[in-house]
Amino acid sequence: MTTMEVPASDAAAQNPGTPHIQTELPGPKARALIARDEAVASPSLTRAYPLVAESGSGMVVTDVDGNRFLDFAAGIAVCATGHSHPKVVAAIHEQADRLIHIAATDFYEPRYTELMERLAAIAPLSEKARVFLTNSGTEAVEGAIKLARYHTHRPGIIAFEGAFHGRTMGSLSLTNSKIKQRAGFGPLIPMVHHAPFPRIRAWREGSGGDGSAELAHLSDTIFGRQISPADVAAIVVEPIQGEGGYFPAPKAFMQGLREICNEHGILLVADEIQSGMGRTGKWWAIEHTGVEPDILTTAKGIASGMPIGAFIARDSVWTWPPGAHGSTFAGNPVCAAAALATIDIIESEGLANAAAMGARLRSGLEDVASRTDAIRDVRGVGLMLGVEFSTHGAAEAVQEAAFRLGLLTLECGESSLRFSPPLIVDEASVDTALRLFGEAVATAKE
Ligand SMILES: Cc1ncc(COP(=O)(O)O)c(C=O)c1O
Repeated sequence: MTTMEVPASDAAAQNPGTPHIQTELPGPKARALIARDEAVASPSLTRAYPLVAESGSGMVVTDVDGNRFLDFAAGIAVCATGHSHPKVVAAIHEQADRLIHIAATDFYEPRYTELMERLAAIAPLSEKARVFLTNSGTEAVEGAIKLARYHTHRPGIIAFEGAFHGRTMGSLSLTNSKIKQRAGFGPLIPMVHHAPFPRIRAWREGSGGDGSAELAHLSDTIFGRQISPADVAAIVVEPIQGEGGYFPAPKAFMQGLREICNEHGILLVADEIQSGMGRTGKWWAIEHTGVEPDILTTAKGIASGMPIGAFIARDSVWTWPPGAHGSTFAGNPVCAAAALATIDIIESEGLANAAAMGARLRSGLEDVASRTDAIRDVRGVGLMLGVEFSTHGAAEAVQEAAFRLGLLTLECGESSLRFSPPLIVDEASVDTALRLFGEAVATAKE
């Protein structure tokens, strides 16, 4: 080596685009912050591992001790354009200088209108679409429930086992992912029934894999014994279950739900809060099934981390009058500006990249899976990929080991890890993540 050459490991350490762990984890500053946080935070928070984030750029999050992590969790599938994308940051700055708040329930504002136009244009609806902007995912689901009830004059809702739709009282009534999310909060809203969702174990145990057994249960048992379809306003479904374990709904199952809705005058609500905004390589996961919803909810990836969501529906569903629904902060101009910049980036590079990098990541994950008995399944679409382990403990141990190696992932379902990186992820980051994940699987101790 000449004096000018830098050893490979030092080169990695100096490259801000690569992960690099330089302290024990958590480091001293992280430990101090965690102690302060634990003294004042709600005990309901469930931090997956002791990451104390200080800054982010692109695919990398840097913690308070200067450790760098490759981010394949993206703040729960939120940072669609990576951390602090320059175009998103510029849009936020410009809008903050121009106007921070006006309350779009009561006044007009250009970014609010433009965002509704953009969302209406990409909505998977053949009828003209209208949009209501919200502050969060759960608020979008609440709005969808209210709109469906108002429009149909019916009280009932069908949701699915394993579903996650949020934590406020209406959306929580539909959530069915973990009992601790519901325990102690009843009574929840009445006339909500949970139908079985086609899941990997059921597929393996011979339900046919197309969701036909689950559709039959909905028609025969739920509509036959528990609630008349004439009392049901909406069937609310995640085209790919998120928190429940990254389970894609089979195409035939989604088509069956559409037929049931058509037959009984029920609205089909696609909750695309996690699966939408380009994550699967199309704007919406439901587009992979050829099914049109009546209402669609979105949030998470819509504004690269700024808090905003929406529910979108066919024009003829919006039968409610002025005053029926509103929200003080929702559609905030700074968030809307960030969403407009995000949509531009997803449109120009995110969609194609999510499909291409999703295929690369999936094949690498399948390769890791083929070398171990600890992984039972790799599934998902685009950059919404789940790896199911044989036990919950194994998933937790690999998540922890990956963190210690500099890779951020996040558990979901009973025993899965999700890979939901920013949609702008490149080949080098995918390959680094796969190397670190392989190492984590090989070294993790339950
Ligand atoms: C499918 C789905 N719906 C609704 C929500 C709730 O969104 P929020 O946490 O923004 O309220 C989530 C959040 O994880 C989700 O994944």
